[in-house]
Amino acid sequence: MPVVAFYSNHSNAKLQSEWENKIQVHYPLVNLVPLLSDQAENAIIALLWKAPLERVKNLNNLKGLISLGQGVDHILKDNIINNKMPVVRIVDPFMAKSMSHWVVMCVLNFTRDTFGYYDQQKNKIYKPRKEKNFTNLKIAIYGIGAIGSVVAKDLKKLGFKVYGWSRTQKKIPGIICLIGKDKFKNLLKSCDIHICLLPLTKETYNIFDNSSFKIMKHGSCFINAGRGEQVVEEHLIKNCKSGHISSAILDVYRKEPLPKKSKLWEQENISIWPHVAAETNPETAAKQIANAIRCIENGQIPPNTIERKLGY
Ligand code: NAP
Ligand code: GLV
Repeated sequence: MPVVAFYSNHSNAKLQSEWENKIQVHYPLVNLVPLLSDQAENAIIALLWKAPLERVKNLNNLKGLISLGQGVDHILKDNIINNKMPVVRIVDPFMAKSMSHWVVMCVLNFTRDTFGYYDQQKNKIYKPRKEKNFTNLKIAIYGIGAIGSVVAKDLKKLGFKVYGWSRTQKKIPGIICLIGKDKFKNLLKSCDIHICLLPLTKETYNIFDNSSFKIMKHGSCFINAGRGEQVVEEHLIKNCKSGHISSAILDVYRKEPLPKKSKLWEQENISIWPHVAAETNPETAAKQIANAIRCIENGQIPPNTIERKLGY
């Protein structure tokens, strides 16, 4: 009977029991216990979202860690966890599609000027606004992995010209796939809409700072659903204030929940979402988590075990 220590920062007994019920459909013997309880001392696996890592580190029977999301930065943070410990992430087509819906909504709000019409409605103004020609708009997606590749294909289907940027060369029909620092700069300079779906690593930390924003075209749209630490928030605010970035839509922040005192709240052309662009769905993710538990228990390497040296 594998004991799995559970922690989510949205944690409560109800959430833990929801996960346990869903996982037990695929592996009835699994027993979820709270990470902070004494029972966790017997855990061979920990299922985690933004957990106190010192506690995880001190559990002596652990054989592997599973992220409750697609990102693993919350587990690798500050190198607290031994780098021999296997770390598994969720890769769920439901989440990729859910992210795609969110990004498409952001892109269409920008191209169709939704907020301009909201403002007109407040003043009872019934007047067409200048429409952007979408066939001329270029979209850059930074990070075309499990999520970004789905977003890229969906935006392409809507008639946009889509570019994807990754670490290793990709081939996705209809998408112009690029790699390397020079191409990153070229995309910043030439595209109209910039979408960050990168994992947080040493290489992507602060990747969107003033030097990136300032070479974007005047009036660009910037969308971030990767991680907050990839954006220097003061630099984004400055570029939004000047109108150089005409619209920014954020789902992730350097500090979450976004502090009440953050200036991001006050910038009218920045939209704030509370890290909900693609939420983990116990219904669709439980099967792969059950499988990962089985694999770790049997000393096998589960699918979607990350490469520790890459950091994602
Ligand atoms: P993934 O499958 O690992 O894809 C990551 C992509 O980023 C890959 O294309 C990868 O290149 C590229 N990449 C990584 N480091 C790079 C670098 N230094 N330079 C250029 N490209 C780089 O990850 P995913 O499942 O798509 O998820 C991506 C991220 O989205 C997660 O890590 C998480 O931070 C975020 N996320 C957010 C939400 C939300 O609700 N806001 C939900 C889920 C995930 P290669 O293909 O060459 O490896
Ligand atoms: C959410 O941010 C995730 O990494 O799944």
